[in-house]
Amino acid sequence: MSLLEVSQLGKSFGGLRAVNDFSFTVEEGSITALIGPNGAGKTTAFNMVTGVIVPTDGSIKFRGQELRGRRVDLICRQGVARTFQNIRLFDHQSVLENVTVGLHRQLRTGFLGALLKGPRTREEREARVASAKYLDFVGLLPRANDEASSLAYGERRRLEIARALASGPSLLLLDEPAAGMNPQETVELVELIRKIRDAGVTVFLIEHDMKLVMEISEQIYVLNQGEEIARGVPEAIRNDEHVIKAYLGVPE
Ligand SMILES: Nc1ncnc2c1ncn2[C@@H]1O[C@H](COP(=O)(O)OP(=O)(O)OP(=O)(O)O)[C@@H](O)[C@H]1O
Ligand SMILES: [Mg+2]
Repeated sequence: MSLLEVSQLGKSFGGLRAVNDFSFTVEEGSITALIGPNGAGKTTAFNMVTGVIVPTDGSIKFRGQELRGRRVDLICRQGVARTFQNIRLFDHQSVLENVTVGLHRQLRTGFLGALLKGPRTREEREARVASAKYLDFVGLLPRANDEASSLAYGERRRLEIARALASGPSLLLLDEPAAGMNPQETVELVELIRKIRDAGVTVFLIEHDMKLVMEISEQIYVLNQGEEIARGVPEAIRNDEHVIKAYLGVPE
C-alpha cells in the first residue's frame, strides 16, 4: 500500500476544471514531485490533499483511510503537514513561537493560550524545548528569539518547514519551497529536504526549479491545465515531448 493513494481527483471552480481525473500515489519514504506550468492545478491538488478545499470528484487515501471531506486540522493530526506557496508566518512573533504554533498536535487543549499570556508552566518549557529541536533541525536555532520578520527569505521558508515538521507529520507537502531562493539557499534546501526524508518523513513537493526537481525526486508527476501529461523518473520526464511542449508553450 502506498502512503498516499489518490484516484480520479477532480476540482471545478465554476466552469473552470482546475484538476481533472488525476490519479497518483506517493510511496512511503520517497521524495515525489508535482510539476507543471503556472495554473496547471498543482496547488489545487495540494489543497485537496490537505483539506483546504473539498474535491469535486475522486478519493484521497492516506494509509488506506479516506481523507476526502475531512477537516484540515484532522488531516494534520493524521500526519499530513504542508508549507504554503505564499509564506505564512506570524511576522511579529519570535522565530521560536512560530514553530510552537505547529506543535498543536502534541499539546493539550487551551495550552497555546496559556503559552502566549500566562506564567511559564512546565508544559510551556517543554514546548519551547520541542520547538527548539525543530529549529535546530532546519538550522535556525541561533535565530530563535528574533522576530520572524527579521529573517531573510530563505530562512523564512525554512522556518515554515520547521513549523510543519513540529506537527509530527509522516507526509510533508512543500509548495514551491525554492521559490525566491538564491543558488546557495537552494543548495541548502536540497540538503534539508534529503535530511527530512532520511528522518522518516515522506516528501511531496511542487517546484518550478527543474534542476532541484531532477536532482532529488524519485517520481515526478506533470500536470498541464488540470490534466496529467506525464509521470516517471527524472530522466524520462526530462526527455518527454509532452512535458517539453507544455513548458515551452508550444500548441499541440
Ligand atoms: N479558489 C479558486 N477559485 C477559482 N479559481 C481558482 C481557485 N484556485 C485556483 N483557481 C484556478 O485554478 C487553476 C489552477 O490553479 P493552481 O493554483 O492550482 O495552479 P498551480 O499549478 O499551483 O500554478 P502556479 O504554478 O502558478 O502556482 C488556475 O486557473 C487558477 O486560476
Ligand atoms: Mg501553485
